[in-house]
Amino acid sequence: MAEVAAPDNPAPAVGSAPGRSCPLHYRYQPADFAVAAPAHLRSIDVLYVVGGLYGNPLALERVLEMFDRERGRKRLVFNGDFHWFDADPEVFARVQRDVLAHEALRGNVETELADPDADADAGCGCAYPDWVGDGVVERSNRILARLRTAANAAQRAALSALPMWQRADVGSLRLGIVHGDATSLAGWGFAQEHLRDAGHREQVAGWFDRADVDAFACTHTCLPVFQAIRGGQAGQPRWVLNNGATGMPNFRGDHAGLLTRVAVSPFEGDERRFGMGLAAGGVHVDAIGVEFDAGAWLRCFGQHWPPGSDAHVSYFDRIAEGPAYVPREALRDVDGEPLP
Ligand SMILES: [Fe+2]
Repeated sequence: MAEVAAPDNPAPAVGSAPGRSCPLHYRYQPADFAVAAPAHLRSIDVLYVVGGLYGNPLALERVLEMFDRERGRKRLVFNGDFHWFDADPEVFARVQRDVLAHEALRGNVETELADPDADADAGCGCAYPDWVGDGVVERSNRILARLRTAANAAQRAALSALPMWQRADVGSLRLGIVHGDATSLAGWGFAQEHLRDAGHREQVAGWFDRADVDAFACTHTCLPVFQAIRGGQAGQPRWVLNNGATGMPNFRGDHAGLLTRVAVSPFEGDERRFGMGLAAGGVHVDAIGVEFDAGAWLRCFGQHWPPGSDAHVSYFDRIAEGPAYVPREALRDVDGEPLP
């Protein structure tokens, strides 16, 4: 398949190789978000957005425990890539059952799993940009191929039926919920790397204008960033809320996953907030740590993906040590500078 890139997407796929390309059916428009939220996602008191669970059942268990403690009108949205390391059919089934008991969007992993054409040119569907090496891309395609063996036809059909994006209102905050960015399920326009560029932030401001939302909650790019975007009402910024990953570490030397919590009341749990807290449109927005037994998860991971396997080669260091990224880099003002 030839490379397909939206004219205003700054992170088009590189070439046409599987895992690099971005299929047309992944696309939507920022203006699509300029609609009312569905009734069940309006007037929410507490919203959890859980992106990048990556088939980690221990993180899933913790998320459900945390959500259970919340009070008021609450919703839990899994915004894609909830499957990945769960190549064991029993673990896959458990993840799918618990996730689909709540609101869910499909990420590129679920979209490619649901595709009846196992040789689809999208590979893993990640639309990896050029700073991601070929070895990572090739291993991701093989991980996806193995993951396909864990899913039965009914499970694939359920994934296929999931939407690519959603709208929600928390208090007065109008939120777009996506897996990638405002133009594509696998877009990299909300990646912390791209958001360092002032010109790109101007382009993102245009997406917000057309979408008529105050914030986008996203994931997919594997590193967290809460980025202020110029141009909101009454001088208030809009926000990109990228939680990084719930099922993998997000910062060097720290094993916690992250979820995005948007609520009309402050977070009262004991879990850490990683300095990524802000007030937007009268609501509280935080990246909350998802703390699970890291040793148990490493053992579980190693059982299914032993040394030398594709997932072990690509992800073991990240899971064991965390990425080369620190919390101070993850909360940024409209000029891209760290917020105190
Ligand atoms: Fe993704």
